[in-house]
Amino acid sequence: MRTSEKTSINHKTYTLKNWQGGYQSLKQEYDYWVEDIEGTIPPELTGTLFRNGPGLLDINGQRIHHPFDGDGMISKITFTDGRVHFRNRFVHTEGYLAEQKAGKILYRGVFGTQKPGGWLANMFDFQLKNIANTNVIYWGGKLLALWEAAEPHQLDPHTLATLGKEYFQGVLSTGEAFAAHPHIDPACVFDQGKPCLVNFAIKPGLATTITIFEVDTTGKIIRKHAHSVPGFCFIHDFAITENYCIFFQNPVLFNPLPFVLGIRGAGECVKFQPHQPTKAIVISRHPQKQPIQTLEIPSGFVFHHANAYEDNGEIIVDSICYANLPEVKPNSDFLQTDFDTLPPGQLWRFHLNLATKTVKRQLIESRCCEFPCLHPDKVGRNYRYVYMGAAAQNQGNAPLQAIVKIDLTTGEKLLWSAAPQGFTGEPIFVPRPSGEEEDDGWILGLVYDSEHHRSDVVILNAKDFTLQAKLHLRHHIPYGLHGNFVKETFI
Ligand code: CO
Repeated sequence: MRTSEKTSINHKTYTLKNWQGGYQSLKQEYDYWVEDIEGTIPPELTGTLFRNGPGLLDINGQRIHHPFDGDGMISKITFTDGRVHFRNRFVHTEGYLAEQKAGKILYRGVFGTQKPGGWLANMFDFQLKNIANTNVIYWGGKLLALWEAAEPHQLDPHTLATLGKEYFQGVLSTGEAFAAHPHIDPACVFDQGKPCLVNFAIKPGLATTITIFEVDTTGKIIRKHAHSVPGFCFIHDFAITENYCIFFQNPVLFNPLPFVLGIRGAGECVKFQPHQPTKAIVISRHPQKQPIQTLEIPSGFVFHHANAYEDNGEIIVDSICYANLPEVKPNSDFLQTDFDTLPPGQLWRFHLNLATKTVKRQLIESRCCEFPCLHPDKVGRNYRYVYMGAAAQNQGNAPLQAIVKIDLTTGEKLLWSAAPQGFTGEPIFVPRPSGEEEDDGWILGLVYDSEHHRSDVVILNAKDFTLQAKLHLRHHIPYGLHGNFVKETFI
């Protein structure tokens, strides 16, 4: 026993203590030119990487229960003339301002953060905090911080100051959701080939309403249609093709009673149903309504899809699947996560045959991975390369410490690892301006360096995964969620 225990310890590419360092709050807001640089910043790399994620893991020392409940903090990394500028600001949501003023937790979080005072203080309190912490996009001349259960917050792209909530000229109503996972169709067939941003909203209940939004390049919602789906839906992301939106309805049950009684957060009342299938819901993007198509897939849980495309009557969907949903338990401490007990996220390819209503699937990558990305011109199209955050070890669940590239045509894989001290997250692919091949460009990533308790911006050559440059920030950035790169600079 002892030997095998020792072996498994020796095989770990991380220590929990090092990983935990990336979950400390960053309270300070910075604004500076990055001067501590290893390597060379590619001179053609111009633009802005915006990232969002929970910046505060505590309110004045009171720890929040789950990072998903942390206040949104935007990082803005500007690449211009071979130099790099960093700036970060918190999104000034009503909840952030009220809690900072009070110096304590005032709101219940979806993932279990409770107000102090026990269940009595939390009972029948449905006032959730719009924490704007999941994604940030620049579209239609506006910078928007997104959180899936409520309206976006608009920010000034130069200063990151919060300007207010965004309602798209009144098309969105007060409190209406606008998900955190928009996808940009690079050449929309309904808009004479112009790009179009496609997003959705979920209104859960016994039956769930899925609303689809399509936003043109001026920031105007030009198509909005709602669809009712039987059952409760826990849907975080979706995939688009030229003609369809695809949602995976994870097999979960929602028991609202503990939430209503104030014992648990809403996210803790979701229970995975391993004996029920996952459902693929296919909704046409065509403005004239067509019936929803539903296909059954073996049971599994999906947060993120890599991409989808249409191919000879089939829809191909590439998604990161877990064998089950890790439950958020009321008395658990996320900092003590036992990764060995969790299923790994693995990349699967699903072939949805709309004529026969059957689904075939194949495993593409068994190594634990998350946060897929691709060339922006390939969204909704047949594509060759996918990039993901990945574990440094090739089996089981573990923190993300590497970035992996997969050639979906040849199966060839490249891995860049920051282990044992470094921890990665979502990679972003930036095409080289003059580039023609799908992998001609760079991968940008934020890496938490636990040895120095600071974060690095890393730039990899996307073709061969060689490290081009490592930009040492003066501080750490807590593990983030999603972000986007735009060609514009706002200095
Ligand atoms: Co996400």
